[in-house]
Amino acid sequence: MEKTFIMIKPDGVQRGLVGEIVSRFEKKGFQLLGGKLMSVSTELAEKHYEEHKERPFFGELVEFITSSPVFAFVLAGDNVIATARQMMGKTNPSDALPGTVRGDFGISVGMNIIHGSDSAESAERELALWFPEEEQVEYEKTINRWI
Ligand code: TYD
Ligand code: MG
Repeated sequence: MEKTFIMIKPDGVQRGLVGEIVSRFEKKGFQLLGGKLMSVSTELAEKHYEEHKERPFFGELVEFITSSPVFAFVLAGDNVIATARQMMGKTNPSDALPGTVRGDFGISVGMNIIHGSDSAESAERELALWFPEEEQVEYEKTINRWI
């Protein structure tokens, strides 16, 4: 089963959107394999966003992600990486369609509520960084036969 890494950023946690956002993915039929509220170290934030380290917004991005707790979780399901990205919406909330997390709740590109892995390679790298195997719970979701 495909897995992806999702993080509700500090703005989403502070605004009380954790339940709403997790609920969207649950209702879609994806399976939660792990989740945690956590403060992010500068080291973890820099590793997570290392592909952007030469970009002008890198410093602010790391500062934002480490400024207040995030809610990190693991989702599993068919095509979950691409589907979760669609459910998140475009990076800039002003381009994100209504019905997407960023389209419905996002305010600016800097504070756009949510992160989700963008490819199988990113998902593997990010899950290794954020969720050691012992924090991922394996269980059978018996309702899967209906969806
Ligand atoms: P990116 O990986 O391009 O977007 P996504 O989160 O949709 O995969 O960028 C990572 C984060 O960096 C993005 O969610 C918000 C921040 N960012 C800025 O602050 N300014 C920018 O111009 C861009 C492109 C991203
Ligand atoms: Mg990205």
